Amino acid sequence: MAETGPETAHLSVLPGETVEVVGARNGGVFVDATLGLGGHTEALLEVSREIKVIALDQDPAAIDLARKRLKRFGTRVEIVQANFSDIRSVVGERKVDGIIADLGVSSMQLDSPDRGFSFRYDAPLDMRMDPAGGGETAAELLERIDETSLANIIYQYGEERHSRRIARRIIERREAGEQVMTTSELAELVKRSVPFNKKDRIHPATRTFQALRIAVNGELEILDGFISEAVDLLKTNGRLAIITFHSLEDRIVKRAFQRLSGKCSCPPRMPKCVCGAVKSVEILTKKPIVPSAQETDQNPRSRSAKLRAVQKLERELN
Ligand SMILES: C[S@@+](CC[C@H](N)C(=O)[O-])C[C@H]1O[C@@H](n2cnc3c(N)ncnc32)[C@H](O)[C@@H]1O
Ligand SMILES: [Zn+2]
Repeated sequence: MAETGPETAHLSVLPGETVEVVGARNGGVFVDATLGLGGHTEALLEVSREIKVIALDQDPAAIDLARKRLKRFGTRVEIVQANFSDIRSVVGERKVDGIIADLGVSSMQLDSPDRGFSFRYDAPLDMRMDPAGGGETAAELLERIDETSLANIIYQYGEERHSRRIARRIIERREAGEQVMTTSELAELVKRSVPFNKKDRIHPATRTFQALRIAVNGELEILDGFISEAVDLLKTNGRLAIITFHSLEDRIVKRAFQRLSGKCSCPPRMPKCVCGAVKSVEILTKKPIVPSAQETDQNPRSRSAKLRAVQKLERELN
């Protein structure tokens, strides 16, 4: 994911398409699992006065900003600081008409000079979306992790070809008694670890930063479980819409949606199905919805966005 500047700070990705595909029309209760700066929640609330939104974000700074932005909607919006892996306890006994999730970090987080998400600002390597949650910071992760696991994280979560070299340099430095503590130290070290490529349009550390952020926040581990719980919380015909920003996330969403739509995942030579595939949703997006050229021009962060959605069936089919 390319980093963007403050000029794009207020732009939500695929707002019209998301509201449309999640089925927000005349009314209903919707959940925004990733409130961020409140752009999608605002778009939902503006569709109809009969719409209410329960909105979650794990980042207290995002909650504060969104609360101000959404004040005019009064009790139509309920804002809760929580991880979306706890969606069930936030929503409680209610069943809802639609759930949206716009994954990853917000431009506000990337543009916050002190949170360590970006190499554009020198700061301690933190990268936690929920800084008070007690999880480990990126610097702490780099202090304890072994070289192979680090290389795997950088390769898998960052899709970085030079993952091994980068991991080697980080560990070498640690072994020399110098811990990587700040964004600038890490960016410089990555830059020196990889061959210079004139054609690279992004800073060589972009992929490593993305990888560490995903690891620190456990972003991929919770996704599949969240999708199952979200579908559970939908009313019949309720919809779940998810926006992803890189291929790993998109693959998890795509596979979870296929599984929930009853696709058998047994090995090809199995004489009969034993995976227990059950169809509980209909896939609404055979191909993901992507931003228009106009949107990507206005908001470069939207370039890699993919929107997928499902609709819950009346009952499960075997
Ligand atoms: C891309 S931004 C959302 C932007 C928002 N849709 C808007 O229009 O302003 C993603 C937000 O999700 C939050 N987030 C990411 N993972 C989360 C999780 N597991 N639980 C709760 N919030 C999460 C981040 O803190 C961030 O504020
Ligand atoms: Zn099967």
